[in-house]
Amino acid sequence: METKRAKVIAIANQKGGVGKTTTAVNLAAALSQNEYSVLAIDLDAQGNLSACFGIEADEQEETIREIFLAETAEEELPADYGIIYNKSGVDILPSNIKLADIEMQLITDFNRERLLKSYLERISENYDFIIIDCSPSLSILTINALAAADKVIIPALPHHLSAIGLTQLMKTIQKVKRSLNKNLEIEGILLTQYSNRTNLAKNMKEVIEEEYGKYINVFSITIPQCVKAAEAGLLGKSVIEYAPNSSVAKAYTQFAELIGGAKK
Ligand SMILES: Nc1ncnc2c1ncn2[C@@H]1O[C@H](COP(=O)(O)OP(=O)(O)OP(=O)(O)O)[C@@H](O)[C@H]1O
Ligand SMILES: [Mg+2]
Repeated sequence: METKRAKVIAIANQKGGVGKTTTAVNLAAALSQNEYSVLAIDLDAQGNLSACFGIEADEQEETIREIFLAETAEEELPADYGIIYNKSGVDILPSNIKLADIEMQLITDFNRERLLKSYLERISENYDFIIIDCSPSLSILTINALAAADKVIIPALPHHLSAIGLTQLMKTIQKVKRSLNKNLEIEGILLTQYSNRTNLAKNMKEVIEEEYGKYINVFSITIPQCVKAAEAGLLGKSVIEYAPNSSVAKAYTQFAELIGGAKK
């Protein structure tokens, strides 16, 4: 029998506040609802993904940071090290502010871009999907995520400034593809906090499609702006759980079906 290997999806954009964490949380929750086994990794020292799943990030001793340190020391931690089982069905590997010093710790490791990849290869058979929430930077952690991923999803706000930042992200992705991970594919750009009512959003959707649509998929599904998304995050729940009938929960459910296929 062929061993299972998780599909690894990085949610990345170095621009802050574009909906990376919200997308990671709700994609993970919706995939899990469709009976897929899902691990969500918080790769951001802000610990927002952990908080959105109701985890007290700063109290966690076993985090993704310790996994990086073990990898760089060539030590093997147990496969379930640090993993928190959430009632939503999603497994979570948390992070907190202590992750902020990791770059310094890895600086002398000549394999430092591949540490996450080597860890994920060991646990990959336990999951259908591994979703990685990146920080708003093109740091060594984000490079690790891109080096380990099969696909990258790029959340973006539908206005012009966020379109400009995309060029740099594309260059980084191409570089990672050339030197670290030739299998990496851009799954697409996901427009978030989208309001059908504003002409600006409509125009920018067209601009982004014109500018990038020729060589990158811009998802036809957009994530509507909806206060329930922010409320759910503050309450430590996915919006799928908090407000399943909201426009934003429905959009993420539909998006998860596109990414994962229908129910398992
Ligand atoms: N569809 C939405 N409608 C309304 N508010 C949203 C929506 N998506 C996200 N938000 C809110 O916008 C803010 C930024 O979203 P989020 O944290 O997901 O972005 P991010 O890209 O992960 O940010 P960072 O770069 O800081 O990690 C949060 O307060 C979140 O609750
Ligand atoms: Mg975030």
